[in-house]
Amino acid sequence: MTEKERIRTYISGLDDKMSGGIPQGHVVLLSGNPGTYKSSLSYSILYNNAIENGIKGLYISFQQSRESLIDQFRSMNMDPEDVKEKITIVDVSYLRETLDPDPDDWIEMFKRYVENIRATTDYELLVLDSLTTLEMISKVEDRRETLFHIFEWLRNFPGLTSFLLTERARTKESLREEEFLADGTIILSKERLDKVETRRYLAVDKMRSTAHETSYFTLLFDEDHFQVTRVLSD
Ligand SMILES: Nc1ncnc2c1ncn2[C@@H]1O[C@H](COP(=O)(O)OP(=O)(O)O)[C@@H](O)[C@H]1O
Ligand SMILES: [Mg+2]
Repeated sequence: MTEKERIRTYISGLDDKMSGGIPQGHVVLLSGNPGTYKSSLSYSILYNNAIENGIKGLYISFQQSRESLIDQFRSMNMDPEDVKEKITIVDVSYLRETLDPDPDDWIEMFKRYVENIRATTDYELLVLDSLTTLEMISKVEDRRETLFHIFEWLRNFPGLTSFLLTERARTKESLREEEFLADGTIILSKERLDKVETRRYLAVDKMRSTAHETSYFTLLFDEDHFQVTRVLSD
């Protein structure tokens, strides 16, 4: 088997603990409660790949407006202006305006937009922020079937690596369909230690075709980039 190309996450300390990165073409879930850095971390992967390798990325938000995302990323010293030739950030209002006619099925709208834009631009990275919101506004009838089709549809784009953000906290009782379907799952979490201190964590729970650690790392954002370190036991 020839070794697939890998997409580096540029999260310091992580790539060398997962065989160099995420295999190209994977559909990866990035899941965690609100405020666990799903949006910022997925964008940081796009941003760093654009800066370091000239790789193009598409960030589609059903959740937060484009302006609000840009403000946030800029405040984290990953200014979308630096990579405007490589990274496209769009939100629902934009999708509505560009598609003619405006479909009322949001999943259809998402797919049409990605198909249209992929026909003209060679995006290699895609962030969907978030699968949970898309599903909520789409009134999905058969969840299993809908998700199955989305995952298959994403895998059919040659060379496209996707990050699907999911908002739900994971519980032992409810392993969800998307976790079976995904090629990889990265879990983000945070824990309040006391009134002052919060600690953030990242774990690579699953990554097909990859030797990786599954333990939780401490996740830090330092100046302009993310880094993971081993959890120090108290
Ligand atoms: N400039 C900043 N530097 C570091 N952390 C920040 C900065 N701005 C916001 N944050 C943190 O990022 C969190 C939001 O991250 P975000 O990626 O939007 O999370 P999620 O998408 O999981 O909800 C905020 O709750 C805040 O704790
Ligand atoms: Mg978010």
